[in-house]
Amino acid sequence: MNPTVLIVDDKEAARVLAKDYIGNTWSHLEADSSASCLATLRSHAVDAVVLDLNIPGVKDFGLLTTVRQKYPSLPVLMLTSFGDFQKAVQATKLGASDFIPKEQAELLLKPSLDRIFKSRQDSDLSDAYKDALNVKYETFIPDHPLYSAVYAEGERLAKSDLSYLLLGETGTGKDVLAQHVHRCSGRSGAFVRVDCGELDAHFLRSELFGHEKGAYTGADLSRIGKIELANRGTLFLDEIGNMSLDIQSKFLTVLEKKSFQRLGGNDAISVEFRVIAATNMDLKKAIAAGKFREDLYYRLNEIELVLPPLRETPEAIPQFIQHFLSALNKTHHSQFNLDLMTLGKYLSHLWPGNIRELKAHLKRDFFRSQFSSDPTGIASPPETNPNMTSAIQVIEKMNIEQMLKAHDGNVSQAAKAMNLKRQTLAYKVKKFGLEAI
Ligand SMILES: Nc1ncnc2c1ncn2[C@@H]1O[C@H](COP(=O)(O)OP(=O)(O)OP(=O)(O)O)[C@@H](O)[C@H]1O
Ligand SMILES: [Mg+2]
Repeated sequence: MNPTVLIVDDKEAARVLAKDYIGNTWSHLEADSSASCLATLRSHAVDAVVLDLNIPGVKDFGLLTTVRQKYPSLPVLMLTSFGDFQKAVQATKLGASDFIPKEQAELLLKPSLDRIFKSRQDSDLSDAYKDALNVKYETFIPDHPLYSAVYAEGERLAKSDLSYLLLGETGTGKDVLAQHVHRCSGRSGAFVRVDCGELDAHFLRSELFGHEKGAYTGADLSRIGKIELANRGTLFLDEIGNMSLDIQSKFLTVLEKKSFQRLGGNDAISVEFRVIAATNMDLKKAIAAGKFREDLYYRLNEIELVLPPLRETPEAIPQFIQHFLSALNKTHHSQFNLDLMTLGKYLSHLWPGNIRELKAHLKRDFFRSQFSSDPTGIASPPETNPNMTSAIQVIEKMNIEQMLKAHDGNVSQAAKAMNLKRQTLAYKVKKFGLEAI
């Protein structure tokens, strides 16, 4: 498809000139203000933006920064009336692809766009970007000291460039935490995920480093790698324990040199990204067995965050249940809730698959409830979780909170509705530190 260029300038004459310089090779769109630029980007597929530095009502690089944040993969060329070197440097630092003085636009604008589109044509950049940006966020942080501590530590250092190593059993939320850290990092680039477990070594190498056309048999097109794609963003290496020793050593070099070469390429490409690695494997054991490089381990483990298994935080179970159920109820316009029997089973189950397993069970019970009156809860006989009593207290607290809310904080009315003595409820309200009148 023909690429589309969006020309942003408040003066019509300037837009006409820019269109003229670009010629008929590409489609054009126009915007005369910051608002119409953002509206056009929302409603159209745009491949590059040509942006005037002086848009009324916008501070120097305000629009450039917004566009870079919202559309990190979209090339932006800056145009200005004066050939100001300092501004050019600043614009490039903020992620502009090029900076062209208006006096030289006739000469330079088209070749600059040519370069951008050529490199995109040669690779599957746009698809890869779409993939990288297609990330759904859904983070819930339960009110529990272990989760609060892990998430707070993740957020506290998110703006640094330190590497994170996320540990925890399967389904404990390592992916979710990695995305959360990226969102808190303020980085303008994409969150790029690499599954080191799924791929064979050759494929993983090309996935990470990209390759030039003809780098190996079957490499008909050049391809941008995930390292390059993560520039100014986050590279999330999932299941890092499965990375082969050969790739581990190549990746360590990238981290040290902050540059790399595509397979079959000669140019060193500079990159800057934050690494988040995750595994449910014991990496120390892997090091002892000679399967994981110790130097890479220390380089990746600048901050270590360990997500707890659900069986050790049963107080979080009712909170996750409420979170997931309210999302399901909202989507399906229903008001399903677990009955007490089923809730008891949920609390006593040990959840080897952790939050993923809990979510899947809930979903199943939810949909069963939509078609029959008999949600069966956990199919397997429940094990007994020794930490269950505290979880029951959490449910009690949530219940009282809801009842108080329904009665505007009035303890007497809430007690009546709950069939409790006023004093009993008042005692519990105090014990749980709830607000009442
Ligand atoms: N804090 C959370 N808020 C909402 N959903 C969560 C949270 N943590 C985990 N989940 C959900 O639980 C499931 C498993 O989470 P995730 O994929 O992050 O686990 P993981 O630790 O990466 O597992 P694995 O080791 O198998 O890759 C996902 O569906 C995810 O949406
Ligand atoms: Mg995962």
